[in-house]
This record gives sequence, structure tokens and C-alpha cells, in this order.
Amino acid sequence: MTLKEILKKSSYTREDIVRILLANEEDIEVLRRKAKDTLFQYCGNEIYLRGLVEISNRCSFDCFYCGLRKSNNLAARYIMTEEEILETAKECSRRGYGSIVLQSGQRSDKSFVEFIERVVKKIKKLTKSDILPDGLGITLSLGEQNRETYEKWRDAGAHRYLLRIETSSKELFEKIHPAVQSFEKRYKCLKILNDTGWQTGTGVMIGIPNQSIPQLADDILFMQREGIGMIGMGPYLLHTETPMYSNKVWWLNKKKEIASLALKMVSAARIVLKDVNIASTTALETIMPRGRNLGLDFGANVYMPLMTPQKDRINYMIYEGKPVEDTDQVCLPDRKIGFNKWGDANFFLRQRESSPRNPLLRGD
Ligand code: 5AD
Repeated sequence: MTLKEILKKSSYTREDIVRILLANEEDIEVLRRKAKDTLFQYCGNEIYLRGLVEISNRCSFDCFYCGLRKSNNLAARYIMTEEEILETAKECSRRGYGSIVLQSGQRSDKSFVEFIERVVKKIKKLTKSDILPDGLGITLSLGEQNRETYEKWRDAGAHRYLLRIETSSKELFEKIHPAVQSFEKRYKCLKILNDTGWQTGTGVMIGIPNQSIPQLADDILFMQREGIGMIGMGPYLLHTETPMYSNKVWWLNKKKEIASLALKMVSAARIVLKDVNIASTTALETIMPRGRNLGLDFGANVYMPLMTPQKDRINYMIYEGKPVEDTDQVCLPDRKIGFNKWGDANFFLRQRESSPRNPLLRGD
């Protein structure tokens, strides 16, 4: 079958997705077109905004790829104050960003859990307005927690949670994390999130050394199987202060291929999963010029303007070259920007219709 024929199908096998991800330069335009058509049909042409606030780079994990890993003694650690976070939240609503994402390194001690609970409640209270009667939509991206914590933060008023699985292959996961960080634990957290009524998001890195195309196809099928409605994926990037920096030469040789594979993953996820939200990530912009606009053009529909205070941005270096400014502003003639909206994925609205008693699954 040609790619065009495969793309005419309405559901896709693992082999189909592999074929999509192997699209060559000539085919890539066909793929982009199909992803855009699917996006417009299932989600419309709006781009939703989430102000991204990287509230702390402290981390108790030691991922082999990440610049924030606890063994990196060169990282100057920070945590934003409550006042700084609330000020930033107010600025998000002033700018018409309907949602905010609070992101940080891994921490689960009591004082952190309570700090987040308090901050979420205050953001909700502070950002209620005529335009947004329920305040800003709040997404948390704060790592692995227990059920009680997830429930606490949900009850405080957050409704979306992002927790990347990084790869759905247990074997590959174990190669890029220390033994104490298990695939099972990460997976269980995603289960609890879904179970406790969060709109759950996940994502993977693309171009991890030894990652295969069938594994990436499996990542998309994993998201489908696990009821994931929000996706944030990006290319794997180098950071000097990490064990995986030893792959530098390999990575530099592969860089172009990884960049193109990342865009194909965005399109493949759109085509297979249809009405989910997909973020065009900073990592895309880091690996290639105009990367975030390209991500949107290949099927993503969420853009996250960087709202971390200037002084802290330089210290949230999960990988090298991470921009400290939004140089790649949205600029696409066939799209409009969804100001002052939560912008929940239609995927969740559909879920809510089939289980109307869950109050967390709400739209605008
Ligand atoms: N390259 C790309 N993405 C990375 N992340 C962390 N380190 C890197 C890297 N070197 C992503 C991971 C993680 C999130 C904090 O950032 O997916 O979940």
C-alpha cells in the first residue's frame, strides 16, 4: 500500500503507523496535509494557549538525559515564591491566556504538596473574571505523586495533569533512568490520574539512542489504549551534564533525521488519535528553526508561551540550547488563536458526554 492509501483508513495498525513514520521527504507533505485535515475536522483551527511557568528546578530524580537531574551540581536551584507565581498567573489572564501550566522537577515532600495546594486555590480565586468565570484552567506538570496528593491538587482546582511516560517501552525506559525510577511506577501514576478524574496528558521523547520506529508506533498506540487526551512530545536533545551526553557524535549525525521524525510523530498522533490536544513543544523549536510553528503546521494545536520569570529561565535548562525567549511566535495564516479559553480537548468533552457525572471533565 502507498502512504496515500494507508492514510485513507479510519483506524490504524502498528504496521500502518510504522509506515507513516517512515514517510520520506516526498511523502511528508501528504502526511502534513492529512494531519491538518484531521485536525480541522476534529478540533477546528484554533490554537489554545497555556502560559508555562517553570516554578522550580529542584529535582529528586536522576534521569540520564535531563539537565535538571539531581546529580547536576552545576545547576543553580530555585523555587519561585507564592507571590511570584500569583503575579505570573495574573499576567497570564491579563494577556488572555485561558490556561496556565505549573511545571517543576520531581518533589513530593509535604511542604511542597501543601505549597502547590495553596497556590492552586489562590490562582483560581484570583483569576475569576466575567470572561473566565471559573478562573484560569490549571494544568499541573509536577511528576510522580501518590493518589492522595493527586486528589488534593485536583480538589484545590487544577483539572489537567501532564506526566510523560518518556517511552512506552519498559526496556528502553530502564536504559535511560536509574533503577529506583521504575516504568511501573510511572505507568501507575498515569492510571491513578485517569482514575481520579484528571484530564491526563503524557508524551515521549523522540530520537532516544536505541529507540526504534516500531517503539514510537507503540507509543502512539499506548496513548490510545490509556485514554490520553493531551500530548506533549519532542525530540531528545543533548545536555553536557548528563550521562547520555556520551551519545553526542551519534546524535549530531542524526539530528536532522530526529527533527523530521519528531514532526512525523506529531502528524501520526493527530491522524491516529484525532480529537486530542497536542502541544507544539519548545524542544521542537530547539532542534530546528521555526520548530514550534512547524509542529502546529504538522497537527499540533496547543502553544505554551514561556511565562517563567526572566531570572529563572536560564536555570530551567532541561537540555542545551533551550530558548529563554519565545522567538518562534505563532504565525500561521490558516489558524486563529483561542484567547480567554480553557481549550479542553474534544476528546474530554466526548468523555464527559458519556459520563456526565464527572464534574472535572468540563469544557468552556
Ligand atoms: N531532551 C529532550 N527532552 C527532555 N526532557 C528532559 N530532558 C530532555 C532532553 N535532554 C523532557 C522529558 C521530561 C521533561 C521534563 O522534559 O520528557 O519529562
